[in-house]
Amino acid sequence: MDKIRIRGGRPLHGRIQISGAKNAGLPLMAACLLSDQTLTLSNLPALADIATMATLLEQHGVTTEVEGENGSRTMRLNAGNITSTTAPYDLVRKMRASVLVLGPILARFGEARVSLPGGCAIGNRPVDLHVKGLTALGAEIVLEEGYIHAKAPKGLKGGRYVFPQVSVGATENLMMAACLAEGETTLVNAAREPEVNDLAHCLNAMGGKVSGIGTDTLTIQGVAALHGAEHRVVADRIEAGTYAIAAVMTDGELELTGVCPTLLEALLKLLTEAGAKIDTFEDGLRIRRANGMMAGVDVMTEPYPGFPTDLQAQIMALMTVSKGAAMVTETIFENRFMHVPELCRMGANINVHHSSAMIRGVEKLKGAPVMATDLRASVSMVLAGLAAEGETIINRVYHLDRGYERLEAKLAACGADIERLRGEG
Ligand code: EPZ
Repeated sequence: MDKIRIRGGRPLHGRIQISGAKNAGLPLMAACLLSDQTLTLSNLPALADIATMATLLEQHGVTTEVEGENGSRTMRLNAGNITSTTAPYDLVRKMRASVLVLGPILARFGEARVSLPGGCAIGNRPVDLHVKGLTALGAEIVLEEGYIHAKAPKGLKGGRYVFPQVSVGATENLMMAACLAEGETTLVNAAREPEVNDLAHCLNAMGGKVSGIGTDTLTIQGVAALHGAEHRVVADRIEAGTYAIAAVMTDGELELTGVCPTLLEALLKLLTEAGAKIDTFEDGLRIRRANGMMAGVDVMTEPYPGFPTDLQAQIMALMTVSKGAAMVTETIFENRFMHVPELCRMGANINVHHSSAMIRGVEKLKGAPVMATDLRASVSMVLAGLAAEGETIINRVYHLDRGYERLEAKLAACGADIERLRGEG
Protein backbone atom coordinates (compact mmCIF):
# COMPACT_ATOMS: atom_id res chain seq x y z
CA MET A 1 0.00 0.00 0.00
CA ASP A 2 1.17 3.55 -0.72
CA LYS A 3 2.65 5.75 1.99
CA ILE A 4 3.28 9.47 2.18
CA ARG A 5 6.56 10.88 3.49
CA ILE A 6 6.65 14.45 4.78
CA ARG A 7 9.68 16.38 5.97
CA GLY A 8 8.14 19.09 8.11
CA GLY A 9 8.99 22.60 9.29
CA ARG A 10 8.58 24.39 5.95
CA PRO A 11 6.06 27.29 5.81
CA LEU A 12 3.57 26.96 2.94
CA HIS A 13 3.39 29.84 0.47
CA GLY A 14 1.35 30.00 -2.70
CA ARG A 15 -2.08 29.51 -4.21
CA ILE A 16 -4.36 26.45 -4.17
CA GLN A 17 -7.35 25.98 -6.47
CA ILE A 18 -10.13 24.29 -4.46
CA SER A 19 -11.84 21.33 -6.16
CA GLY A 20 -15.52 20.45 -6.34
CA ALA A 21 -16.98 18.98 -3.15
CA LYS A 22 -16.93 15.18 -2.69
CA ASN A 23 -20.00 15.41 -0.46
CA ALA A 24 -21.92 17.32 -3.11
CA GLY A 25 -20.70 15.24 -6.07
CA LEU A 26 -21.87 11.95 -4.53
CA PRO A 27 -25.58 12.84 -4.06
CA LEU A 28 -25.55 14.78 -7.34
CA MET A 29 -24.40 11.64 -9.18
CA ALA A 30 -27.17 9.62 -7.51
CA ALA A 31 -29.70 12.23 -8.68
CA CYS A 32 -29.16 11.10 -12.29
CA LEU A 33 -31.28 8.04 -11.40
CA LEU A 34 -34.35 10.28 -11.15
CA SER A 35 -34.47 10.94 -14.90
CA ASP A 36 -34.06 9.13 -18.22
CA GLN A 37 -32.25 12.15 -19.61
CA THR A 38 -28.59 13.12 -19.26
CA LEU A 39 -27.32 14.93 -16.18
CA THR A 40 -24.05 16.80 -16.79
CA LEU A 41 -21.93 17.59 -13.72
CA SER A 42 -18.97 19.95 -14.09
CA ASN A 43 -16.24 20.64 -11.48
CA LEU A 44 -16.57 17.02 -10.35
CA PRO A 45 -13.40 16.06 -8.40
CA ALA A 46 -11.28 13.04 -9.40
CA LEU A 47 -11.52 11.03 -6.14
CA ALA A 48 -11.75 7.37 -5.20
CA ASP A 49 -15.25 7.84 -3.72
CA ILE A 50 -16.48 9.49 -6.94
CA ALA A 51 -15.12 6.52 -8.91
CA THR A 52 -16.86 4.12 -6.49
CA MET A 53 -20.18 5.90 -6.99
CA ALA A 54 -19.71 5.75 -10.79
CA THR A 55 -19.08 1.99 -10.57
CA LEU A 56 -22.19 1.53 -8.42
CA LEU A 57 -24.34 3.54 -10.84
CA GLU A 58 -22.94 1.65 -13.84
CA GLN A 59 -23.95 -1.68 -12.33
CA HIS A 60 -27.51 -0.28 -12.16
CA GLY A 61 -27.24 0.43 -15.91
CA VAL A 62 -26.22 4.11 -15.85
CA THR A 63 -23.83 5.20 -18.60
CA THR A 64 -21.11 7.67 -17.63
CA GLU A 65 -18.76 9.72 -19.82
CA VAL A 66 -15.95 11.83 -18.42
CA GLU A 67 -14.04 14.61 -20.12
CA GLY A 68 -11.32 16.99 -18.91
CA GLU A 69 -8.84 16.09 -16.26
CA ASN A 70 -8.01 16.90 -12.65
CA GLY A 71 -9.45 20.12 -11.38
CA SER A 72 -11.91 20.62 -14.21
CA ARG A 73 -13.65 17.37 -14.98
CA THR A 74 -17.14 17.01 -16.42
CA MET A 75 -19.18 13.81 -16.17
CA ARG A 76 -22.27 13.01 -18.22
CA LEU A 77 -24.57 10.48 -16.57
CA ASN A 78 -27.59 8.83 -18.22
CA ALA A 79 -30.04 6.52 -16.43
CA GLY A 80 -32.26 5.97 -19.47
CA ASN A 81 -31.70 2.21 -19.35
CA ILE A 82 -31.67 0.96 -15.76
CA THR A 83 -31.17 -2.82 -15.68
CA SER A 84 -31.03 -3.44 -11.92
CA THR A 85 -32.65 -1.87 -8.86
CA THR A 86 -30.27 -3.69 -6.49
CA ALA A 87 -27.21 -2.08 -4.89
CA PRO A 88 -25.04 -5.04 -3.85
CA TYR A 89 -23.15 -5.42 -0.53
CA ASP A 90 -19.70 -5.70 -2.13
CA LEU A 91 -20.05 -2.17 -3.50
CA VAL A 92 -22.13 -0.54 -0.74
CA ARG A 93 -19.76 -1.72 2.00
CA LYS A 94 -16.96 0.29 0.36
CA MET A 95 -18.76 3.59 0.74
CA ARG A 96 -21.70 4.53 2.97
CA ALA A 97 -22.86 7.21 0.56
CA SER A 98 -24.01 4.34 -1.72
CA VAL A 99 -27.23 4.41 0.30
CA LEU A 100 -28.08 7.61 -1.63
CA VAL A 101 -29.28 5.50 -4.58
CA LEU A 102 -32.17 4.20 -2.44
CA GLY A 103 -34.47 7.23 -2.63
CA PRO A 104 -34.08 7.91 -6.36
CA ILE A 105 -34.45 4.26 -7.46
CA LEU A 106 -37.48 3.69 -5.22
CA ALA A 107 -39.15 6.91 -6.37
CA ARG A 108 -38.66 6.25 -10.08
CA PHE A 109 -39.10 2.45 -10.27
CA GLY A 110 -41.35 1.68 -7.27
CA GLU A 111 -38.86 -0.74 -5.74
CA ALA A 112 -35.25 -0.84 -4.56
CA ARG A 113 -33.01 -3.38 -2.82
CA VAL A 114 -30.00 -1.70 -1.24
CA SER A 115 -27.48 -3.38 1.03
CA LEU A 116 -27.22 -1.95 4.53
CA PRO A 117 -23.91 -0.03 4.51
CA GLY A 118 -22.64 -1.29 7.86
CA GLY A 119 -20.70 0.86 10.28
CA CYS A 120 -17.33 2.46 9.65
CA ALA A 121 -14.31 3.70 11.58
CA ILE A 122 -16.04 6.83 12.92
CA GLY A 123 -19.11 5.11 14.31
CA ASN A 124 -22.08 2.84 13.81
CA ARG A 125 -23.80 5.27 11.39
CA PRO A 126 -27.23 3.63 11.01
CA VAL A 127 -29.66 4.47 8.21
CA ASP A 128 -32.84 4.35 10.32
CA LEU A 129 -33.75 7.95 9.46
CA HIS A 130 -33.55 7.17 5.72
CA VAL A 131 -35.92 4.21 6.26
CA LYS A 132 -38.35 6.05 8.56
CA GLY A 133 -38.46 9.05 6.24
CA LEU A 134 -39.20 6.98 3.12
CA THR A 135 -41.87 5.10 5.08
CA ALA A 136 -43.48 8.47 5.79
CA LEU A 137 -43.72 8.87 2.00
CA GLY A 138 -45.64 5.61 1.71
CA ALA A 139 -42.79 3.14 1.12
CA GLU A 140 -43.14 -0.42 2.49
CA ILE A 141 -39.68 -1.29 3.81
CA VAL A 142 -38.36 -4.57 5.23
CA LEU A 143 -34.81 -5.12 6.46
CA GLU A 144 -33.70 -8.68 5.86
CA GLU A 145 -30.49 -10.56 5.02
CA GLY A 146 -28.51 -7.32 5.37
CA TYR A 147 -30.55 -5.53 2.73
CA ILE A 148 -33.13 -2.74 2.70
CA HIS A 149 -36.07 -4.02 0.63
CA ALA A 150 -38.23 -1.04 -0.29
CA LYS A 151 -41.44 -1.10 -2.31
CA ALA A 152 -43.89 1.58 -3.45
CA PRO A 153 -45.95 -0.22 -6.13
CA LYS A 154 -48.34 2.71 -6.50
CA GLY A 155 -45.56 5.27 -6.28
CA LEU A 156 -44.56 7.41 -3.30
CA LYS A 157 -47.03 9.86 -1.76
CA GLY A 158 -46.04 13.29 -0.50
CA GLY A 159 -45.96 13.48 3.30
CA ARG A 160 -44.44 15.23 6.30
CA TYR A 161 -41.35 14.00 8.11
CA VAL A 162 -39.73 15.59 11.15
CA PHE A 163 -36.08 14.51 11.55
CA PRO A 164 -35.41 13.65 15.24
CA GLN A 165 -31.82 14.71 14.56
CA VAL A 166 -30.16 16.45 11.64
CA SER A 167 -28.98 13.99 8.97
CA VAL A 168 -27.27 15.12 5.77
CA GLY A 169 -27.70 11.84 3.89
CA ALA A 170 -31.27 11.20 5.01
CA THR A 171 -32.25 14.74 4.01
CA GLU A 172 -30.70 14.17 0.58
CA ASN A 173 -32.34 10.75 0.08
CA LEU A 174 -35.77 12.06 1.05
CA MET A 175 -35.50 15.26 -0.95
CA MET A 176 -34.66 13.26 -4.10
CA ALA A 177 -37.46 10.74 -3.51
CA ALA A 178 -40.00 13.50 -2.79
CA CYS A 179 -39.33 15.09 -6.20
CA LEU A 180 -41.20 12.18 -7.86
CA ALA A 181 -43.75 11.54 -5.09
CA GLU A 182 -47.38 12.46 -5.70
CA GLY A 183 -48.28 15.68 -3.91
CA GLU A 184 -46.38 17.84 -1.43
CA THR A 185 -43.66 16.74 1.01
CA THR A 186 -42.43 18.74 3.99
CA LEU A 187 -39.10 17.87 5.62
CA VAL A 188 -38.69 19.48 9.07
CA ASN A 189 -35.33 19.79 10.88
CA ALA A 190 -33.69 19.12 7.51
CA ALA A 191 -29.91 19.46 7.07
CA ARG A 192 -28.75 22.84 5.71
CA GLU A 193 -25.21 21.91 4.63
CA PRO A 194 -24.09 23.66 1.42
CA GLU A 195 -23.91 20.24 -0.25
CA VAL A 196 -27.61 19.67 0.51
CA ASN A 197 -28.42 23.11 -0.95
CA ASP A 198 -26.34 22.34 -4.04
CA LEU A 199 -28.33 19.13 -4.60
CA ALA A 200 -31.61 21.06 -4.20
CA HIS A 201 -30.55 23.59 -6.84
CA CYS A 202 -29.62 20.76 -9.20
CA LEU A 203 -32.99 19.01 -8.63
CA ASN A 204 -34.77 22.26 -9.47
CA ALA A 205 -32.66 22.59 -12.64
CA MET A 206 -33.94 19.10 -13.54
CA GLY A 207 -37.54 20.30 -13.18
CA GLY A 208 -37.96 19.55 -9.47
CA LYS A 209 -39.86 21.92 -7.20
CA VAL A 210 -37.85 22.25 -3.98
CA SER A 211 -38.37 25.35 -1.82
CA GLY A 212 -36.99 26.51 1.53
CA ILE A 213 -33.43 25.80 0.31
CA GLY A 214 -30.89 26.78 3.00
CA THR A 215 -33.46 26.57 5.79
CA ASP A 216 -34.31 23.66 8.09
CA THR A 217 -37.72 23.18 6.46
CA LEU A 218 -37.82 21.93 2.88
CA THR A 219 -41.04 21.76 0.85
CA ILE A 220 -41.08 19.63 -2.29
CA GLN A 221 -43.93 19.51 -4.82
CA GLY A 222 -43.82 16.15 -6.61
CA VAL A 223 -43.70 16.13 -10.42
CA ALA A 224 -44.36 13.31 -12.92
CA ALA A 225 -40.80 13.24 -14.30
CA LEU A 226 -37.49 15.09 -14.16
CA HIS A 227 -35.49 16.08 -17.24
CA GLY A 228 -31.75 16.41 -17.82
CA ALA A 229 -29.71 19.39 -16.65
CA GLU A 230 -26.21 20.84 -16.44
CA HIS A 231 -24.88 21.62 -12.97
CA ARG A 232 -21.55 22.80 -11.56
CA VAL A 233 -20.57 21.05 -8.31
CA VAL A 234 -20.12 23.48 -5.42
CA ALA A 235 -16.55 23.93 -4.10
CA ASP A 236 -15.31 21.70 -1.31
CA ARG A 237 -15.42 23.73 1.92
CA ILE A 238 -13.74 20.91 3.85
CA GLU A 239 -10.78 20.80 1.45
CA ALA A 240 -10.56 24.61 1.66
CA GLY A 241 -10.74 24.54 5.46
CA THR A 242 -8.03 21.91 5.60
CA TYR A 243 -5.62 24.06 3.58
CA ALA A 244 -6.54 27.20 5.54
CA ILE A 245 -5.47 25.38 8.70
CA ALA A 246 -2.28 24.17 6.95
CA ALA A 247 -1.33 27.79 6.20
CA VAL A 248 -1.43 28.96 9.83
CA MET A 249 -0.07 25.67 11.21
CA THR A 250 3.12 26.04 9.12
CA ASP A 251 3.32 29.83 9.70
CA GLY A 252 2.98 30.41 5.96
CA GLU A 253 0.50 32.26 3.76
CA LEU A 254 -1.93 30.68 1.29
CA GLU A 255 -4.42 32.02 -1.21
CA LEU A 256 -7.33 29.64 -1.74
CA THR A 257 -9.29 30.19 -4.95
CA GLY A 258 -12.52 28.79 -6.37
CA VAL A 259 -14.42 28.73 -3.08
CA CYS A 260 -16.91 31.22 -1.65
CA PRO A 261 -15.67 32.12 1.88
CA THR A 262 -19.21 32.24 3.27
CA LEU A 263 -19.19 28.41 3.09
CA LEU A 264 -16.46 28.45 5.76
CA GLU A 265 -17.82 31.06 8.13
CA ALA A 266 -17.64 29.00 11.33
CA LEU A 267 -14.03 27.97 10.67
CA LEU A 268 -12.84 31.43 9.60
CA LYS A 269 -14.38 33.02 12.70
CA LEU A 270 -12.62 30.49 14.91
CA LEU A 271 -9.26 30.84 13.12
CA THR A 272 -9.45 34.64 13.45
CA GLU A 273 -10.12 34.22 17.18
CA ALA A 274 -7.10 31.90 17.35
CA GLY A 275 -4.82 34.50 15.73
CA ALA A 276 -5.17 34.23 11.95
CA LYS A 277 -5.28 37.18 9.54
CA ILE A 278 -7.84 36.45 6.83
CA ASP A 279 -8.74 38.54 3.76
CA THR A 280 -11.82 37.27 1.94
CA PHE A 281 -12.88 37.99 -1.65
CA GLU A 282 -15.74 36.77 -3.78
CA ASP A 283 -14.01 33.69 -5.11
CA GLY A 284 -11.60 32.83 -2.32
CA LEU A 285 -9.50 33.99 0.62
CA ARG A 286 -5.96 34.68 1.78
CA ILE A 287 -4.83 33.46 5.19
CA ARG A 288 -1.74 33.78 7.37
CA ARG A 289 -0.92 34.29 11.04
CA ALA A 290 -1.71 37.78 12.36
CA ASN A 291 1.35 37.85 14.66
CA GLY A 292 3.28 35.07 16.33
CA MET A 293 1.96 31.78 17.62
CA MET A 294 -1.69 30.76 17.27
CA ALA A 295 -3.75 30.54 20.48
CA GLY A 296 -5.86 27.61 21.66
CA VAL A 297 -9.63 28.10 21.29
CA ASP A 298 -12.52 25.81 22.26
CA VAL A 299 -14.42 24.06 19.44
CA MET A 300 -17.72 22.16 19.38
CA THR A 301 -18.87 20.43 16.20
CA GLU A 302 -22.47 21.06 15.12
CA PRO A 303 -24.64 20.69 12.01
CA TYR A 304 -24.25 23.55 9.50
CA PRO A 305 -23.86 26.50 9.96
CA GLY A 306 -21.99 25.35 13.10
CA PHE A 307 -18.39 24.11 13.08
CA PRO A 308 -18.22 21.07 10.75
CA THR A 309 -17.36 17.66 12.17
CA ASP A 310 -15.33 17.03 8.99
CA LEU A 311 -12.85 19.71 10.14
CA GLN A 312 -12.61 18.51 13.75
CA ALA A 313 -9.49 16.37 13.31
CA GLN A 314 -7.80 19.16 11.37
CA ILE A 315 -8.50 21.92 13.91
CA MET A 316 -7.31 19.59 16.67
CA ALA A 317 -3.98 19.22 14.86
CA LEU A 318 -3.65 23.02 14.88
CA MET A 319 -4.52 23.19 18.58
CA THR A 320 -1.68 20.75 19.43
CA VAL A 321 0.87 23.47 18.50
CA SER A 322 -1.11 26.52 19.63
CA LYS A 323 -0.46 28.53 22.80
CA GLY A 324 -2.46 27.46 25.86
CA ALA A 325 -5.28 24.92 26.11
CA ALA A 326 -8.24 24.07 23.90
CA MET A 327 -11.26 21.85 24.40
CA VAL A 328 -12.57 20.07 21.27
CA THR A 329 -16.03 18.47 21.60
CA GLU A 330 -17.41 16.11 18.94
CA THR A 331 -21.22 16.03 19.01
CA ILE A 332 -22.03 14.37 15.65
CA PHE A 333 -20.19 11.02 15.66
CA GLU A 334 -19.49 8.74 18.60
CA ASN A 335 -15.98 7.70 17.69
CA ARG A 336 -14.23 10.44 15.80
CA PHE A 337 -11.05 10.80 17.89
CA MET A 338 -8.92 8.09 16.24
CA HIS A 339 -6.41 10.76 15.24
CA VAL A 340 -5.68 11.45 18.95
CA PRO A 341 -3.29 8.53 19.66
CA GLU A 342 -1.45 9.21 16.41
CA LEU A 343 -1.02 12.92 17.21
CA CYS A 344 0.20 11.94 20.70
CA ARG A 345 2.86 9.73 19.09
CA MET A 346 4.13 12.92 17.47
CA GLY A 347 4.40 14.61 20.85
CA ALA A 348 0.97 16.21 21.20
CA ASN A 349 -0.54 16.60 24.68
CA ILE A 350 -4.19 15.48 24.41
CA ASN A 351 -6.53 13.94 26.97
CA VAL A 352 -9.90 12.53 25.87
CA HIS A 353 -12.91 12.45 28.22
CA HIS A 354 -15.92 10.88 26.43
CA SER A 355 -16.81 13.23 23.55
CA SER A 356 -14.36 15.98 24.55
CA ALA A 357 -10.60 16.23 24.11
CA MET A 358 -8.45 18.64 26.14
CA ILE A 359 -5.42 19.76 24.17
CA ARG A 360 -2.46 21.61 25.69
CA GLY A 361 -0.26 23.24 23.06
CA VAL A 362 3.38 22.15 22.75
CA GLU A 363 6.30 24.04 21.16
CA LYS A 364 6.84 21.54 18.36
CA LEU A 365 5.64 18.14 17.18
CA LYS A 366 8.17 15.51 16.19
CA GLY A 367 7.84 13.55 12.94
CA ALA A 368 7.01 9.82 13.33
CA PRO A 369 5.51 6.89 11.41
CA VAL A 370 1.70 7.16 11.88
CA MET A 371 -1.39 5.27 10.79
CA ALA A 372 -4.35 6.75 8.96
CA THR A 373 -7.76 5.43 10.04
CA ASP A 374 -10.38 7.52 8.28
CA LEU A 375 -10.38 10.27 5.70
CA ARG A 376 -10.26 13.29 7.99
CA ALA A 377 -8.01 11.69 10.63
CA SER A 378 -5.57 10.95 7.77
CA VAL A 379 -5.39 14.55 6.67
CA SER A 380 -4.83 15.72 10.25
CA MET A 381 -1.69 13.51 10.17
CA VAL A 382 -0.61 15.36 7.03
CA LEU A 383 -1.10 18.71 8.76
CA ALA A 384 0.84 17.55 11.81
CA GLY A 385 3.63 16.23 9.57
CA LEU A 386 3.88 19.54 7.71
CA ALA A 387 4.36 21.42 11.01
CA ALA A 388 6.53 18.82 12.79
CA GLU A 389 10.28 18.69 13.00
CA GLY A 390 11.71 15.76 11.06
CA GLU A 391 10.15 13.07 8.95
CA THR A 392 6.59 11.70 9.14
CA ILE A 393 5.52 8.59 7.26
CA ILE A 394 1.76 8.15 6.88
CA ASN A 395 0.55 4.62 6.18
CA ARG A 396 -2.77 3.58 4.56
CA VAL A 397 -3.04 6.73 2.46
CA TYR A 398 -5.91 5.23 0.46
CA HIS A 399 -8.09 7.02 3.00
CA LEU A 400 -6.71 10.33 1.74
CA ASP A 401 -7.37 9.43 -1.89
CA ARG A 402 -11.06 9.12 -1.07
CA GLY A 403 -11.45 12.81 -0.35
CA TYR A 404 -8.50 14.98 -1.42
CA GLU A 405 -7.77 15.57 -5.09
CA ARG A 406 -4.01 15.74 -5.87
CA LEU A 407 -3.13 16.47 -2.23
CA GLU A 408 0.62 16.04 -2.60
CA ALA A 409 0.78 18.08 -5.82
CA LYS A 410 -1.21 20.95 -4.31
CA LEU A 411 0.94 21.03 -1.16
CA ALA A 412 4.29 20.51 -2.95
CA ALA A 413 3.46 23.45 -5.25
CA CYS A 414 3.33 25.60 -2.09
CA GLY A 415 6.71 24.45 -0.80
CA ALA A 416 5.89 21.33 1.20
CA ASP A 417 8.46 18.53 1.16
CA ILE A 418 5.89 15.77 0.58
CA GLU A 419 6.22 12.62 -1.50
CA ARG A 420 4.11 9.51 -2.17
CA LEU A 421 6.07 6.26 -1.72
CA ARG A 422 4.52 3.64 -3.99
CA GLY A 423 3.89 0.60 -1.79
CA GLU A 424 4.15 -3.01 -2.79
CA GLY A 425 0.90 -4.95 -2.96
C1 EPZ B 1 -22.43 13.18 5.68
O1 EPZ B 1 -22.47 11.87 6.20
C2 EPZ B 1 -21.03 13.34 5.12
N1 EPZ B 1 -20.80 12.37 4.05
C3 EPZ B 1 -19.99 13.12 6.25
O2 EPZ B 1 -18.70 13.35 5.70
C4 EPZ B 1 -20.26 14.16 7.34
O3 EPZ B 1 -19.37 13.94 8.41
C5 EPZ B 1 -21.71 14.02 7.84
O4 EPZ B 1 -22.63 14.14 6.72
C6 EPZ B 1 -22.07 15.08 8.87
O5 EPZ B 1 -21.90 16.35 8.31
C7 EPZ B 1 -21.33 12.62 2.83
O6 EPZ B 1 -21.99 13.62 2.62
C8 EPZ B 1 -21.07 11.60 1.76
P1 EPZ B 1 -25.42 12.24 8.84
P2 EPZ B 1 -23.92 11.24 6.64
O7 EPZ B 1 -26.53 11.41 8.31
O8 EPZ B 1 -24.98 11.75 5.76
C9 EPZ B 1 -26.60 9.71 12.67
C10 EPZ B 1 -16.46 12.84 5.16
O9 EPZ B 1 -15.46 12.79 5.88
N2 EPZ B 1 -27.59 9.07 11.78
O10 EPZ B 1 -25.56 13.74 8.82
O11 EPZ B 1 -23.73 9.78 6.78
C11 EPZ B 1 -25.18 9.39 12.26
O12 EPZ B 1 -24.77 8.17 12.82
C12 EPZ B 1 -17.77 12.24 5.66
O13 EPZ B 1 -16.53 13.39 4.03
C13 EPZ B 1 -28.51 8.20 12.33
O14 EPZ B 1 -28.51 7.95 13.54
O15 EPZ B 1 -24.07 11.88 8.09
C14 EPZ B 1 -24.41 10.56 12.81
O16 EPZ B 1 -24.15 10.35 14.18
C15 EPZ B 1 -17.60 11.55 7.01
N3 EPZ B 1 -29.43 7.59 11.52
C16 EPZ B 1 -25.39 11.73 12.66
O17 EPZ B 1 -26.69 11.13 12.51
C17 EPZ B 1 -29.48 7.84 10.17
O18 EPZ B 1 -30.35 7.29 9.48
C18 EPZ B 1 -25.14 12.60 11.43
O19 EPZ B 1 -25.07 11.73 10.31
C19 EPZ B 1 -28.53 8.74 9.63
C20 EPZ B 1 -27.61 9.35 10.46
